[in-house]
Amino acid sequence: MKPADKQAYLEEYELLKKKGKPFFPYAVMKDSAMMLLVAAVIIAMSIVLGAEQGPKADPTSTTYVPRPEWYFFFLFELLRVIKPPELVPIATIGIPTICMVLLLLLPFYDRGPERNPIRRPIATTAGVMTIVAMAYLTFLGATGGSPTEIEMEVAPRYEAGKEIVAGAGCLACHKIGENGGTIGPELTHIAQLVPRAAIVRSVEIGPDIMPSYRDLPPKKLNELADFLSSLD
Ligand code: HEC
Repeated sequence: MKPADKQAYLEEYELLKKKGKPFFPYAVMKDSAMMLLVAAVIIAMSIVLGAEQGPKADPTSTTYVPRPEWYFFFLFELLRVIKPPELVPIATIGIPTICMVLLLLLPFYDRGPERNPIRRPIATTAGVMTIVAMAYLTFLGATGGSPTEIEMEVAPRYEAGKEIVAGAGCLACHKIGENGGTIGPELTHIAQLVPRAAIVRSVEIGPDIMPSYRDLPPKKLNELADFLSSLD
C-alpha cells in the first residue's frame, strides 16, 4: 500500500469510527435478537410441521447405498470423477485444504487497498470461479447417476434386467460399468467368466456374504439373468 493511500484510509477510518456505534452493545444486541428469532422460527416449524423421518435404520441391510447431504454433493462428485485410488486423498482432502489455506492467508498476500470488485480482477475471478465450480459439481452430484444406477448403454431387451439389478442393491458390493462397490467381484464382464446358469445359481444361493435373492419373482430373476449374461 502506498503511504498516501494508507493515510487516506486511516483518516476515513477515524471519521467513520467517530460517527459509528460501538460493537458492544449495539451489534451484539442485534445479533442476539436475530439469533433468537431464527431459533424460535425453527422450533415453531418443528412443532407445527414436524420433520420427515426416513425409514428406521436397519443394521442388517447389506444393500443400503449411502448418499451424502446436498452440501457435500460437490465433494461426492469430485470423488466420482477422480477414479484412480491414489488420487482420491488429493481430491477429497488436498484440494479443499489448499483452497481453505489460501483463503485464510488472503489478508497476508493480498495487501492492495482496493475494495471495488471490478478493480480486483484476480480476486474476483478466483472467487467467481470457485462459486461456479462448486455449483456445477453440486448440480452434477445431485442429478448425475446415483450409485444405485447403472450407467451403461444396453439393448432395449436388457433394460428391465438392468433396472432390477440397479434396484436390488447389487451395486453396494459389485461394480458394474462406472458405479458400484468392491466388496464382491466386478460384474462388468461377468458373461465372459461364467455361464448364465452359474449367474442364476449365485444370485439364488448368495455365496459367502452375498445375500440370497431366491425370493425374487421368477420373471424378474430371468430378466436379471438376461441382463447379466449379456455383459461381455
Ligand atoms: C453384500 C454384498 C453383495 C451383494 C449385495 C450382492 N453380492 Fe453378489 N457377490 C458378493 C460376493 C462377496 C461374491 C463372491 C462370493 C464368493 O466368491 O464366494 C458375489 C458373487 C456374485 C456372483 C458370482 C460371480 C462370479 O464370478 O462367479 C454373481 C453373479 C453375483 N454375485 C451377482 C449379484 C447380483 C445380481 C446381486 C444383486 C441382485 C448381488 N450379487 C448382490 C457380494 C454381494
